[in-house]
Amino acid sequence: MISLNPSHKQFEPFTYKKLNDLEKKIAELGLDIPIYPRVEILQQRVNINNLFIPNRLAIQPMEGFDANLDGTPGKLTYRRYERYAKSGAGLIWFEATAITEDCRSNPHQLVLSEKNVKKFKELVSFTRNISNKTLRKLGFDNKVILILQLNHSGRYCIRDGKKYPIRAYLNKDFDKAKGLSEKDGIVISDDQLKEIEEKWIQKAVLAKGVGFDGVDIKSCHGYLIHELFSSRLRKNSKYGGNPLKNRASFFLNIIKELNKKMKNERNFIITTRMSVYDGIPYPYGFGVKPVENENFPALLDLTEPLKVINKLYKQGVRLINITAGNPHYKPQITRPFDIPVKGGTLPNEHPLYGVSRLLNLATLIKNHLPEDMVVVGSGYSYLRQFAGYIAAGMAHEKRVDVCAFGRMALANPNFPKQIFQEGILDKKQVCITCSKCSEFMKLRKNVGCATRDPQYQS
Ligand SMILES: Cc1cc2nc3c(=O)[nH]c(=O)nc-3n(C[C@H](O)[C@H](O)[C@H](O)COP(=O)(O)O)c2cc1C
Repeated sequence: MISLNPSHKQFEPFTYKKLNDLEKKIAELGLDIPIYPRVEILQQRVNINNLFIPNRLAIQPMEGFDANLDGTPGKLTYRRYERYAKSGAGLIWFEATAITEDCRSNPHQLVLSEKNVKKFKELVSFTRNISNKTLRKLGFDNKVILILQLNHSGRYCIRDGKKYPIRAYLNKDFDKAKGLSEKDGIVISDDQLKEIEEKWIQKAVLAKGVGFDGVDIKSCHGYLIHELFSSRLRKNSKYGGNPLKNRASFFLNIIKELNKKMKNERNFIITTRMSVYDGIPYPYGFGVKPVENENFPALLDLTEPLKVINKLYKQGVRLINITAGNPHYKPQITRPFDIPVKGGTLPNEHPLYGVSRLLNLATLIKNHLPEDMVVVGSGYSYLRQFAGYIAAGMAHEKRVDVCAFGRMALANPNFPKQIFQEGILDKKQVCITCSKCSEFMKLRKNVGCATRDPQYQS
């Protein structure tokens, strides 16, 4: 991993007109961001246990908060997935979907329940049919892979319209960042966690029933499972305390039980999206070193994330989506940006450093695992019209298997087609990392691109 130097702490917006301008800046900052001018490699299929992703471009999970109040997909949900389905992406990772109504982070979040099965089936087959038609037209032989991300929002839950943190442990800084006090919400008990564990398994099995190719037991971005990973200060609990074995047990129990239940479903993918580094100082962070020097409060240490991922590998998991950060706390780690959300601040960090951190985290995980673990990586939307060349660079150097785009998919859902056909994206259509989509999320509005999509321009 490239070490931090003073220029990495200097914020600068995206002003690169030509690929060469970007190349020069990357060199000046001494960052490890590969650029490869030939993008054909992105059209290669990717093998997960003999199930094939048709190509190397994917759509990241992006909450739209446009579901009906009963958790079923709404009109705008259909609109988003239709746009994704027409994109040519080989893998569509469906957004964070709540395992129960009371663990949503927004009343308009999708909820997977027995009552909603028919509506989810309709959305899945709608997306699949359009995607496969698009992929065929573009000349791909394999069919789209659709994964559902299942989540419990943990300390970011909302109940009756109010914040209701369901915490793995108390952390005053996190509460303060959300304007909360210790009296709001709860610290979840072991008995409650046990119940949620069972519910999660049940909903993951249901994901297969509604037609997904796989399910993601979400372990990122500060939500329940990710927070449990760092619950070192949780007292007298089999799910917390110092041993990693305890802190990871909630997550690994779900994976293990799910594996047992799905053993006759050989083609069903069990996966996770994991924040392998969150930039939060020890003892509250995950993927960070114990603090030895207060000038370096959250240095990277992948020992624990790798232990958990190796356990996943032993249990047969062959697909993992690598991300970083807790966007409620340090959004730049999850999504490098030029403009913060209204009321937010610009970070003391060059956004290209943020991009290189995301790319390198995926690389480090990929390098530590057997070759057949398929790694999906993040960090491309910031690179605007040039993103395809960096994705090609990452694939070419075998640093990642699949390159997935989040905000770009809201701004320009045609990015895969455009990259396959032109290499460069139309700069008038790209994401400009203005954070408006995140602002909509914060304001509990429907999420979309206010810069490029007329639907979200008021
Ligand atoms: C509006 C919005 C919604 C998001 N929803 C999810 C989500 O449901 N699940 C998830 O794992 N990440 C979510 N993310 C994070 C993105 O998937 C992605 O990791 C991040 O935006 C960085 O990728 P990008 O630079 O391509 O946008 C969301 C991000 C934004 C801005």
